[in-house]
Amino acid sequence: MKIIDISKDKGFPEETITRFRRARSCVVLTGAGVSAESGVPTFRDAITGTWSNFNVEEFATPEAFRKNPKKVWEWYEYRRNLLKDINPNQGHYAIAELERIYSDFWLVTQNIDGLHRRAGNKNVLEVHGNIYRNKCFEENTIVDNISVGAEIPPKCPNCGSYVRPDVVWFHEPLPKYEMEKAIEVSSRCDVFIVAGTSAIVYPAAELPIVAKNAGAYVMEVNIEKTLISTQMDITILGKTGIVLPRLTESIMTKVGK
Ligand code: OAD
Repeated sequence: MKIIDISKDKGFPEETITRFRRARSCVVLTGAGVSAESGVPTFRDAITGTWSNFNVEEFATPEAFRKNPKKVWEWYEYRRNLLKDINPNQGHYAIAELERIYSDFWLVTQNIDGLHRRAGNKNVLEVHGNIYRNKCFEENTIVDNISVGAEIPPKCPNCGSYVRPDVVWFHEPLPKYEMEKAIEVSSRCDVFIVAGTSAIVYPAAELPIVAKNAGAYVMEVNIEKTLISTQMDITILGKTGIVLPRLTESIMTKVGK
């Protein structure tokens, strides 16, 4: 275990760069911290203003939606609106660069804001869903093209049930394909980066350990130490928007590109 404060150190240890340079496969796991520099309000930050009298459980559970579908739908509309003018930051672009560097690359994200794809990542596993996608509450099938001016929440054209955002709520399982794939790629990668997540909940707490136990070199990037820091090969303390571009630059420089 090694902990480095990027603001005080000049660069990455030689071993780190060597491991990244020799690697053929790379997995990155991201959390809310990666979007922080884009100005995306975190889940809890979004419960402000007119919404501040409510708690998380009143918005992000199937029970909450059953009880008051209009309120939950409107809260997600409000959050979609907040995201309208937000763009990917240097951290997102560095992760997209990693996908170009490694032919075998997977990104596992807990973020629902879609910024990784906008930055250029293609092999993305959204394990908490995507706020821009909607699905039928009863049938669990994706519903596209909700007409403007539809009732709130809109109704599923197939069965008439309410449509809900395709995000994972509390008390709900994570999507099966995404999680199985995330475990598979984590257990066979050469290097693994866990970035901008408090790593408290599954899968953030588990996937880096799966990778480590299978022999990968595991790097954490966060502005502070987390519960899993002691189990990492290296923890870099710093903003993802600064650390990750420096990392890609160092890998490229070393391979002489
Ligand atoms: P958290 O809000 O729990 O943690 C964000 C992490 O990012 C913290 O560890 C911060 O220290 C770190 N951080 C903040 N700004 C940073 C920056 N610029 N650079 C690097 N690190 C930074 O968010 P997540 O770990 O994503 O689940 O939370 C995981 C899940 O818990 C969420 O997806 C949500 C929540 O309950 C669901 O909604 C299902």
